[in-house]
Amino acid sequence: MHQYEALASITDALLDDTTGPELLRETIDRYRDLLLTASGIDLGEDESIGHFNTGTGVAIGATWAALCVDDLIRTQRFVSGLYRAVRDVAARRSGPVHVLYAGTGPFGTLAVPLMTRFTPEELQFTCLEITGPSYRAVRQLFTNLDVNAYIVGVIQTDASTYRIGESPAVDIMLSETMQYCLIDEMQVPIALNLMAQLPPEVIMIPERITLRLAALTDDAEQTVATDLGEILTVDRATLHAYRPGPNTTDWPTVRLTVPSLLPGQESGPLAIRTLIEVYGGYGLTDYESGLTIPKIIDDYPDATNPLEAIDFTYQLHPSPLLWMDFVVPRAVAAAI
Ligand SMILES: C[S@@+](CC[C@H](N)C(=O)[O-])C[C@H]1O[C@@H](n2cnc3c(N)ncnc32)[C@H](O)[C@@H]1O
Repeated sequence: MHQYEALASITDALLDDTTGPELLRETIDRYRDLLLTASGIDLGEDESIGHFNTGTGVAIGATWAALCVDDLIRTQRFVSGLYRAVRDVAARRSGPVHVLYAGTGPFGTLAVPLMTRFTPEELQFTCLEITGPSYRAVRQLFTNLDVNAYIVGVIQTDASTYRIGESPAVDIMLSETMQYCLIDEMQVPIALNLMAQLPPEVIMIPERITLRLAALTDDAEQTVATDLGEILTVDRATLHAYRPGPNTTDWPTVRLTVPSLLPGQESGPLAIRTLIEVYGGYGLTDYESGLTIPKIIDDYPDATNPLEAIDFTYQLHPSPLLWMDFVVPRAVAAAI
């Protein structure tokens, strides 16, 4: 099958909400093989395996960025959300829709499928990527797939400090530069920097990321039994409202109470949920992706391990991190 036809059939499966797990697996296998060949990347190369410390966070090595494609439902939902966003912009005005894609990895995984659904007159991408191996590979890939007509430019830069040019105007800012709990990687600094430069009608993908505290069930499944409240929301409104303090860039501390168990009651561990709203109803909830696996932080408190509340502070510098202070009852603290 010709490369374009192969890509078009991969895109059909990705954009079809009825695609089941088996077809999705098989589709992503075909997509990864096509991307590997077109990019020419050597996944075993030392330079691609090592992570890159930007000084304010981690950019994952090209090998690991490539393998993100295998996070099946993530890839499908992001491509579907982006497709819907492009259609929404195209429906409200004429001319090409311009996507600023921050953190392409070596494959431009989230962008390439849409190039079979729109013409270059309808869709354009500006691509930002910080690591050398990913930057070189994605340029090679665009050339080998013969899709450079869709590309305004590929720029090797840190998207958390990049200054956006005036033309062409950006319609959609797309970035998946995160891991669970928004730690280490640079999703939040990138979104803060880029969205502050863009007008309010620009769509951000993902639209919203929320961290929540929960108690999991006390069994092998460890599903969410009780949601205990919101720790952090990153969306257009909270990014707009964020103001660094005079001596700190931390986000305001949030205290969440951990209710005591009733006599005879049992609970599984405490965990942090990472929930992602991509766009237009597409999203990722608990366990659907490597990004949304609840992160266990402690056993649920009991008489021998008392706890009243947890203070959460999201830190940006020197690198993204979620600080936790465990607040024990006053009597227990006094006895320590
Ligand atoms: C998690 S991978 C995702 C790759 C691809 N977009 C996908 O969704 O499959 C994130 C990519 O963003 C890049 N990246 C991370 N921080 C960056 C930054 N500050 N500026 C530019 N690129 C960055 C990494 O090098 C990596 O290639």
